[in-house]
Amino acid sequence: MVKKDLSVEFLGVHFENPFCLSSSPVGNCYEMCAKCYDAGWGGIVFKTIGPADFLIDEVSPRFDALTKEGTPFVGFKNMEQIAEHSLEENLADLRKLKENYPDKVLIASIMGPTEKDWEELARLVTEAGADMIEMNLSCPQMTSHAMGSDVGTNPELCKKFCQAVKRGSSLPMMAKMTPNITDMVPVAQACLEGGADGIAAINTIKSICNVDLNRKIGLPIINGKSSVSGYSGKAVKPVALRFVQQLRDGIPGVPISGIGGIETWEDAAEFLLLGATTLQITTAVMQYGYRIVEDLKNGLEHYMEEQGVDSLMDLVGAANGNMIPAENLDRDYVVYPEFDNDKCIGCGRCYISCFDGAHQAITWDDEKRRPSCDHDKCVGCHLCVLVCPVRAIGKGEIVMKPGRKGSPEEKAV
Ligand SMILES: Cc1cc2nc3c(=O)[nH]c(=O)nc-3n(C[C@H](O)[C@H](O)[C@H](O)COP(=O)(O)O)c2cc1C
Ligand code: SF4
Ligand code: SF4
Repeated sequence: MVKKDLSVEFLGVHFENPFCLSSSPVGNCYEMCAKCYDAGWGGIVFKTIGPADFLIDEVSPRFDALTKEGTPFVGFKNMEQIAEHSLEENLADLRKLKENYPDKVLIASIMGPTEKDWEELARLVTEAGADMIEMNLSCPQMTSHAMGSDVGTNPELCKKFCQAVKRGSSLPMMAKMTPNITDMVPVAQACLEGGADGIAAINTIKSICNVDLNRKIGLPIINGKSSVSGYSGKAVKPVALRFVQQLRDGIPGVPISGIGGIETWEDAAEFLLLGATTLQITTAVMQYGYRIVEDLKNGLEHYMEEQGVDSLMDLVGAANGNMIPAENLDRDYVVYPEFDNDKCIGCGRCYISCFDGAHQAITWDDEKRRPSCDHDKCVGCHLCVLVCPVRAIGKGEIVMKPGRKGSPEEKAV
């Protein structure tokens, strides 16, 4: 296969590929970051650095996970705050990373309670050699209310903090958004007005993953209690994609670093198509290690080849125009399901789902153990398509609803 150029330009910085560690324990110290660079990642957002006098005191245990049918975790909950290492140690690590990996992108994530802290941190990480700054306005489990996701819901405060960072540094800067908000656009807009050059989205979603049924305490249990805290991993991808799309809708052309549930090259491509230029990952690395970057890069190269695309930048935002308001969708036709009897294994799941969860439109041949569709009852919802374990159901005949204009042949389904 032809080698494809995976490099991207983001906020004036050249990345050899769009894949970055997002700020978290996966990029917590020099040794981890060095290993990640060696593995082939395009950049690192170092674990969020706070002011020298802000002491971090973590709980144990600090994680929980949502599991399903043997999948180790679909979603991941953490109660961790920002870097536990001292400010000096973190700055020393940044310095050493830049010294030993001058061509790799190093992004410093910072967070402070006051404008003075933000300005000072921005100055310090710039002096330490960072290429870019990410403002963490969005950690949902900080014990100080002057920091974290509460700040990220307040546009005025975000703007002030962005201005403070800009006073402390002339580096390109992105503001990392909280998803714990209905509309992210006003906050992102305020950050851009305050001097942010781009937006990173999303941080983790406030959550309770599980409750211990006997002890009646949420998980993880910390001396008989638990807390609401951030959710990440595959399960949050739909929420993250929604925010990326809405940011590009509300602020056309805004540069975005996409984060949230990226595990595979397909996930990565989806974020690119909806408008992200760089891609940040934590939970998948916590599960599978830095080596996932090989599959991510290979997969993306194959996809580019298949799509006839030479520059990854050509994919950025290519799907934005195809997301429209629900009221503008074409509601004039129905697509019936088509059953492939050769692929069908006779499990009956489509029949049960349609009968108990849709429109009772599937009839079941007990002898042959095969389904068939009654078009008089079927509404074309495609629940059956989604539940079939062997993809034996596809898109079939398209019919216009009674009295609607147009012809089925014109429909792009
Ligand atoms: C254990 C853990 C610690 C995290 N710490 C930070 C942090 O210090 N700063 C930050 O901006 N985001 C932090 N995050 C959020 C991630 O950077 C990322 O935004 C989020 O996990 C969604 O991406 P993912 O689904 O790839 O994990 C943390 C996430 C996890 C799971
Ligand atoms: S498309 Fe919906 S209504 Fe039609 S057969 Fe499938 S599940 Fe039933
Ligand atoms: S769900 Fe799929 S495999 Fe199972 S009976 Fe229906 S068509 Fe056949």
